[in-house]
Amino acid sequence: MSLGDAAALALALASLAAPAGAAHAESPRVLYMLHCQGCHLADGSGSPGAVPALNGQVARFLAVPGGREFLVRVPGSASAPMSDADLAAVLNWIVARFGPAAEAEAARPYAEDEVARLRREPLLDVAATRRALVEAIGRNP
Ligand code: HEC
Repeated sequence: MSLGDAAALALALASLAAPAGAAHAESPRVLYMLHCQGCHLADGSGSPGAVPALNGQVARFLAVPGGREFLVRVPGSASAPMSDADLAAVLNWIVARFGPAAEAEAARPYAEDEVARLRREPLLDVAATRRALVEAIGRNP
């Protein structure tokens, strides 16, 4: 963990201890640190063969049919312990942060109601859905 990450985590923990009235929503970056980076890593590089890299890749799904839905319905997203609004914010942060920039900028941001609808439709075969999309975007698994 870098010093910057450690500082942000300390801030996140401090805000958990803040009195209820003063509490405010966590930033998408902190939500990513708390709920996603354990597998996807801080730089989005994942682990080859186990967790796909998000960096330089994730926004490419938004350029093919079904990819937009997939990013919400994949288990790591859909079952994340956070509100629909927070999940939309984290996904928008991931797309902007990890790019590629061209696809990220061309994409419409996720909205809370869209995420609410999509995350409630279970993805029955994650591996096959992902395989077809990876083929469509022409990337290496
Ligand atoms: C326990 C490990 C783990 C955690 C925690 C996790 N993910 Fe994932 N994520 C994966 C794996 C593995 C995949 C590949 C698809 C699959 O097998 O589920 C994936 C795929 C994805 C994808 C699609 C990218 C692709 O190339 O398939 C997105 C988007 C994503 N995760 C978002 C998130 C978000 C947002 C969080 C946090 C709220 C999160 N993940 C937490 C393991 C994880």
